[in-house]
Amino acid sequence: MGDIEAAWARVHQEAERLRALHLRALFATDPGRAAALSFRGPGMLLDLSREKLDAAALDALLALARAAGVEAFRDAAFAGEAINVTEGRAVLHMALRGGADAPADADVSGSLVRFLAYAEAVRRGPATDVINIGIGGSDLGPVMATRALAPDHDGPRLHFVSNVDGAHLADTVRHLDPETTLVIIASKTFTTLETMANAHAARDWLAQAGDPGPRMAAVSTNLDGTAEFGIDAARVFGFWDWVGGRYSIWSAIGLPLAIAVGAEAFRAFLAGAAAMDAHFRDAPLAQNLPVLLALAGIFRRNGMGWPTVALIPYDQRLERFPAYVQQLDMESNGKRVSRDGSTLAHASGPVIWGEPGTNAQHSFFQLIHQGTDVIPAEFIAARAPRDADPHHHALLMANCLAQAQALAFGRTEAEVRAAMAKAGVPAAEIDRLAPHRIFPGDRPSATLLLDRLDPEGLGGLIALYEHKVMVQGAVWGVNSYDQWGVELGKELAGALIPALTGSGVLPASTDAATAAMVARLTGKDAS
Ligand code: F6P
Repeated sequence: MGDIEAAWARVHQEAERLRALHLRALFATDPGRAAALSFRGPGMLLDLSREKLDAAALDALLALARAAGVEAFRDAAFAGEAINVTEGRAVLHMALRGGADAPADADVSGSLVRFLAYAEAVRRGPATDVINIGIGGSDLGPVMATRALAPDHDGPRLHFVSNVDGAHLADTVRHLDPETTLVIIASKTFTTLETMANAHAARDWLAQAGDPGPRMAAVSTNLDGTAEFGIDAARVFGFWDWVGGRYSIWSAIGLPLAIAVGAEAFRAFLAGAAAMDAHFRDAPLAQNLPVLLALAGIFRRNGMGWPTVALIPYDQRLERFPAYVQQLDMESNGKRVSRDGSTLAHASGPVIWGEPGTNAQHSFFQLIHQGTDVIPAEFIAARAPRDADPHHHALLMANCLAQAQALAFGRTEAEVRAAMAKAGVPAAEIDRLAPHRIFPGDRPSATLLLDRLDPEGLGGLIALYEHKVMVQGAVWGVNSYDQWGVELGKELAGALIPALTGSGVLPASTDAATAAMVARLTGKDAS
């Protein structure tokens, strides 16, 4: 057995052992557990004490990380090696925030100064509204971060249009004035179907108020594409192929955020991420937040076999954070083959989903507490509110803590019966209702407590999840930095467009189900 197989075997043994131990028992036998499994990093604390982990399991996981070469992989990434092996590219978004050295031919600081200066100019007017047109990494980061930093938002109003559904743009511009609106077209490739369709439609809308040129800007690595579209080079902001779309918020893709919050706050956002980069590079694995969060996830996914994670921010301003992490994590680690192309022998990225608490408690938490599957949760909260009423914050935190408590410790049959008896419920009624009121507990969660959800705190939070993805990708042996899985759908849609727009016919190879639907949609079949 090789080192890595032996390390996996140890992780599975630890999972087997812990499967039989309820979280109640783990807390009862180790009074120091809460402290021992809480870890401090830049601007935040990670509490893993309610995970199905203990010191021995963590040790096995750290041995797995070492056997998988996590440290060497991280160092290769920061050194600019082409770790994106299927596209032959480096992965250096950390260089955009000073967390790594940029390639010698890239003027990172010049580019930052330039797009921040433009952001400041836009903030001075005359635009009252800015629409960012982009999708995936060219949308989710700016929209998530702009909402997260609402208290810092003192620039023009921001709007985000991503979906090729014309309703998205139509509903956005309905109450806007084309004369005072700036449209930013954000697309790394400047070829993405949704973005290009919306860009053309937005340009037509702007043209109602005269030459749209001065009210359009672009962010892209495809400078020929932006020139061909007719955007003045003075308002085109580039970046580099070593910045993946889902890692690009730190580049000029962050322009809408910079327009919203200003250059100073944007630099603080970068600094927060750089502090997490330094922690990730320098902290020992056993104290390293991205490594620990990644290993907790690997234990859930591979040790315990749980296929999903609920990401629940107890912070309304992080409303779009689950959607952001969905792309970051699932487009990175949703892979079925290893870096050398062989089929994986173990599971890789889990399904990630979530909504903010407390709203989530009033929808799907029932299933998390009493459903037949174990759904691990990651809770994110800020220690202190920025500007919200402290009383509301106390209520919010009480709920966050209570959910983690209920999941871990549950409520036993004896407790349920005792409570009902105390409330005077007749014995027969207790027998009938008790099974419905039992909470099995032993359901794991991690809690991330940010010092503050400010620009620095948000930068650190995003970088934490980016590096978590890197560590998991390294352990699973996948290439986290390509996304071939999105290509087939794009290609097939391209082949259907002529028939659906009436400019051509279906390819002869089209399957019967699709052909029948196309016939219905084009009125050639009334069924
Ligand atoms: O969905 C695939 C993808 O390539 C994402 O990785 C990317 O963030 C998104 O499309 C948008 O791409 P672009 O910025 O090139 O328009």
